[in-house]
Amino acid sequence: MKTQVAIIGAGPAGLLLSHLLHLSGIASIVLESRSRNDIEATIRAGVLEQGTMDILTESGVGARMQREGVVHHGIELAFGGRRHRIDLTALTGRAITVYAQHEVIKDLVAVRLAADGKILFEVSDVSLHDLHDETPSVRYTHQSEPGVLSADFIIGCDGFHGISRPAIPENPRQDFQRSYPFGWFGILVEAPPSSDELIYAQHQRGFALVSTRSPTVQRLYFQCDPKDDVSNWSDDRIWSELNMRLACEDGWALKEGRIFQKNIIGMRSFVSTPMQYGRLFLAGDAAHIVPPTGAKGMNLAVSDVRLLARGFEQFYGKGNQELLAGYTATALKRVWRAEHFSWWMTSMLHTFADASPFQQELQRAELEYVVSSRAAATALAENYVGLAM
Ligand code: FAD
Ligand code: DHB
Repeated sequence: MKTQVAIIGAGPAGLLLSHLLHLSGIASIVLESRSRNDIEATIRAGVLEQGTMDILTESGVGARMQREGVVHHGIELAFGGRRHRIDLTALTGRAITVYAQHEVIKDLVAVRLAADGKILFEVSDVSLHDLHDETPSVRYTHQSEPGVLSADFIIGCDGFHGISRPAIPENPRQDFQRSYPFGWFGILVEAPPSSDELIYAQHQRGFALVSTRSPTVQRLYFQCDPKDDVSNWSDDRIWSELNMRLACEDGWALKEGRIFQKNIIGMRSFVSTPMQYGRLFLAGDAAHIVPPTGAKGMNLAVSDVRLLARGFEQFYGKGNQELLAGYTATALKRVWRAEHFSWWMTSMLHTFADASPFQQELQRAELEYVVSSRAAATALAENYVGLAM
């Protein structure tokens, strides 16, 4: 098989890139290791930056997001038994939309398949070859048959555990990382929303987050031991923990319901550079990871592929490689900003078991500053809604 751009991974990065390239008349084929059902059912992100919404809308894949997603103009920070609103729109003129990542995936798969786009699901044994040649290739197995896909470029959109990043040798690759001594316990609940806006709560017992999915399904998270097991958490224990961490002086209370999914995710910050090696480019989680507290991961994947799409338009349209050559430097500017913001939100809102009383007071002072200073609240808000793409 032959195509112009071979894409590894059908996450938000790979699928959106394939769609944007198609709109510019550039052919691509996507190779995905999981099934369509699997990728359309995996519960992950929920918050889309304004810039992400704009790209989905401008590229004609935002209709359902606009109907079913909910625009939020603020978030709340809760600590010391009180809730404080950060008015995102008043401070920045922008907003966020809550629309689940797997719904974005469904919309992108549908639009690719409707345009006869090629996505090979359930491929295995994927390996990358001849990355410095003009026609690099991908070897894989699909339906028990070995295959070779040659292309002008290969884009690794295969997430943190994929095979693309390791295809870049240790020299020149440089990885930066930090892991956190806690994870998030995530649940999906059948209940009406408890709050009109997301609540990020700092509490001595640990962080908690109230998010939403729809008028009937809610998404909640709480800080946990990353090595804990969901089987240790009965529904009663989960509600009791969440109620303690979210308790508020004003009598606000969580609306409980049937918990129908539980999972634990680890947290890390990670950046790999360069994001290009010969004819291989990395995008999204394949190149960088943020802890989820700033809701940045999927949005970064989207901004990476937007840069790549523009680079390929310039390359195929004008024979000019300038944007592609500058990809690592341009993408990493935004990535490091988001890395800092995500680390900062995580540090400000989570409980560190080894924090000294001095560090605990600093954390409280920082939260008080953010909710009382317009300048500090604006800094949070402009990062949260996302800088211009
Ligand atoms: P992925 O979504 O990981 O997609 C990679 C794809 O490649 C997968 O489908 C995988 O099966 C496939 N693949 C892997 N290896 C191979 C291989 N060898 N061959 C072929 N295919 C392969 N981000 C936000 O922006 N906002 C949020 O609110 C937010 N909340 C989050 C909450 C949680 C609980 C979690 C876990 C994450 C959250 N994120 C959030 C992060 C976001 O989900 C990721 O950053 C996003 O999925 C990255 O997209 P991607 O396309 O780069 O990678
Ligand atoms: C959600 C996830 C996040 O990481 C976040 O910061 C806010 C909301 C969510 O899944 O709804």
